[in-house]
Amino acid sequence: MKQLDDLVESASKQFEDAIHQVDHQVLEETRIEYLGAKSGKLKEAQKGLGKVAKEDKPVAGKRFNEVKTRLEELFQSAADTITGGGKKGKAETLDVTLPGVRPRLGHIHPITQTIDELKDIMGRLGFSAVEGPEIEDDWHNFEALNIPLEHPARDPLDNFYLNIAASSHGGGNQLLRSQTSTVQIRVMENKQPPIRIVSLGRVYRPDEIDATHYAMFHQIEGLLVDTNVTMADLKYVLRLFASSYLGEDVEIRFRPSFFPFTEPSVEVDMRWQDTWLEFGGAGMVDPNVLKAVGYDPEEVTGFAFGLGVERLCMRRHGINDIRYLYDSNTKFLAQF
Ligand code: DAH
Repeated sequence: MKQLDDLVESASKQFEDAIHQVDHQVLEETRIEYLGAKSGKLKEAQKGLGKVAKEDKPVAGKRFNEVKTRLEELFQSAADTITGGGKKGKAETLDVTLPGVRPRLGHIHPITQTIDELKDIMGRLGFSAVEGPEIEDDWHNFEALNIPLEHPARDPLDNFYLNIAASSHGGGNQLLRSQTSTVQIRVMENKQPPIRIVSLGRVYRPDEIDATHYAMFHQIEGLLVDTNVTMADLKYVLRLFASSYLGEDVEIRFRPSFFPFTEPSVEVDMRWQDTWLEFGGAGMVDPNVLKAVGYDPEEVTGFAFGLGVERLCMRRHGINDIRYLYDSNTKFLAQF
């Protein structure tokens, strides 16, 4: 009887051990040691039953059966625990000999990273970042920017007009803004000069989608209004901006252009690693725009610029198709 009791005690310790080690090998060895059909300890105990005095046999036999059942239960429950529980289903074992599973960290989207960096660069030049709404009215998107009703930029085919009534706070038609220049107006309407802001955000145009066009993209808009601001200040700031983002080996070039809200207007090109690329537009804020927000163009002047964030990001990282940025392929995104 003592032998049978000891068997339960030592077996439960060993099965317990196997559980702790989460080790199938130890489990199997323990099973053979106790429940092995040929020479397991239970088998030996059974042989011992033969030597028990006749009158003690019923008690000893009963005890033996109890012990046998108990050992089988111990084995079964250890096996279940190690393989993650029979009924619970799927195995969830820990094999300490395997290499660890690296936790998968998410990435900040390359465009968001670019935006953060550009804000940071402009912040160091004294420009504070502001935001504007993506749903705009035609006053902020066109009218106040000196883009009159008959101007082709207002063509319904070139804009995402919204099929909603004019809102109480904004006048006229609502649309998804086609440029971040809207934020210039919003800032100047609410603040007197000096102004020194950047605004980075999404703009929308019904462009045919290809390697360099997307119906939604991002712009960085800059505006500085003060006394005696000149084109030299504009070029100086953009040069510093470009070399901070791309590196000292960057060159910057202005080409004459036209925008309704600047006079004179220029296209901004940057040369980096032997290639010139157009990044956006800039110029001196048109007196009509200053008047539209209640400033006196005789007292203050300003410069403004609007550059494509995707272009900057793609150029810097050598991305050759804008669509990569927006098709949510984690293999692509994980590189940044
Ligand atoms: N808003 C213009 C566009 O989307 C870019 C631009 C040009 C912005 C000249 C400016 C500017 O602030 O001065 O094409």
